[in-house]
Amino acid sequence: MTRRIADTAASDNASDSRTSRRHFFKLLAGSPLLGLAYPTLPSSWQQAVERELQRGVPAPPRPAGMPCPDCGQEMVFPSPADMRSHSAQAGGAPTQVPGALDAHFSGQLVESAAEAINVWDFERVAHANNLPEHWNYIHMGVDDLETRAANREGFQRLMLRPRRLGPDTAKLDTSVQLFGRRWNTPLFLCPVAALEAYHTQGESGAARAARARGILQIQSNQSSQSYEDIAAAMGEPHWFQIYTTPDWNLNKRLIDRVAAAGCPVLVWTVDLLGGSNRELSRRSQGRQEYDRPLCQNCHNHKPGYQRPMRRGLDGPPGPRPSYTWDYVKRIKDATSMKVILKGIVTREDAELAIENGADGIFVSNHGGRAENSLRSAIERNRRPRNNPTLTSPCLERRPSAGGPVR
Ligand SMILES: Cc1cc2nc3c(=O)[nH]c(=O)nc-3n(C[C@H](O)[C@H](O)[C@H](O)COP(=O)(O)O)c2cc1C
Repeated sequence: MTRRIADTAASDNASDSRTSRRHFFKLLAGSPLLGLAYPTLPSSWQQAVERELQRGVPAPPRPAGMPCPDCGQEMVFPSPADMRSHSAQAGGAPTQVPGALDAHFSGQLVESAAEAINVWDFERVAHANNLPEHWNYIHMGVDDLETRAANREGFQRLMLRPRRLGPDTAKLDTSVQLFGRRWNTPLFLCPVAALEAYHTQGESGAARAARARGILQIQSNQSSQSYEDIAAAMGEPHWFQIYTTPDWNLNKRLIDRVAAAGCPVLVWTVDLLGGSNRELSRRSQGRQEYDRPLCQNCHNHKPGYQRPMRRGLDGPPGPRPSYTWDYVKRIKDATSMKVILKGIVTREDAELAIENGADGIFVSNHGGRAENSLRSAIERNRRPRNNPTLTSPCLERRPSAGGPVR
């Protein structure tokens, strides 16, 4: 008898807890903040919220928009549906990734690069084969990934005007010349850190592929392999990207090292000088950071470990100049390499970069991994404010705005 009473009490408790759990998810599904919170929820919570939305919990109202700091137009807050789709693009299971491929995805992962039909085939394979920490690193953006998503959307707003039956189609040529060297295509391999995390051949493997296709490769300062090893695989010196430290002497030693190896162009990344809020990285690392045996195995993050392009550059610390436009001149004066600034996204900074001696600019928002501007890197800067007849990218981001896009 005592036991039956205890059983009944236990079953009542379980049913109470189920009811209050459902109540909680119902509230969450109807919350105006769901759109922002959704990507950060554990997947079991996301599923529970999805169930409540499917059961007909009314869609929460959008919070009032904030004015754009540049043009004053109201900016549109993402709806929960938008955020669900961003979240799926960013970190959901492969079957959730929306996009062109969904329409004709057969459910199979390609087994070799030659089998890939669409570039997104690689994304699915990368998702399926990487450690969660490595996957998180490669696909993350800052904050709630809005700028990362905007980069993709920006491409969807660009249109082409196809012309037919050109005068001499046999002579079509996509090659470009940069600083006296011709490349087969304007597409190139941008600097990406730590490629050995994704393939045992790392940057040298990428260099061999680039060499075979006549493609420019830019090595990251955070590469898994040294400049010299990658240049040997490439068969010629390639471009090098530098992250400067506050210690000028350290930067100078690195600049001298790549210059001595024949590097023709130095790419200075300026969009991370203020740091970036990479929440997904922090979530991946948890509290253990690289101390975990798994990370230690492949990164060798042992005490004193340094990536190859930081190794052997010890010496007395140098002055700590602040990062003003004079720093471009300082770098230029320190080397005969061409110097390009990576991470320029405004007309004003483009002009200042060239005025201060840069040989070129690399228009980029770091793939949405630096700051959360909400602006895509591919779209042109908005037109001057004093011409009200021109559209602005702010307006073009509004789903209701319609109309022509630039
Ligand atoms: C996994 C990963 C690592 C990256 N590492 C670097 C890096 O070490 N240095 C750098 O300047 N940019 C780095 N980037 C940014 C890319 O060079 C490039 O700017 C970005 O992927 C494309 O965005 P964009 O069109 O705004 O340039 C990295 C990007 C990714 C996805």
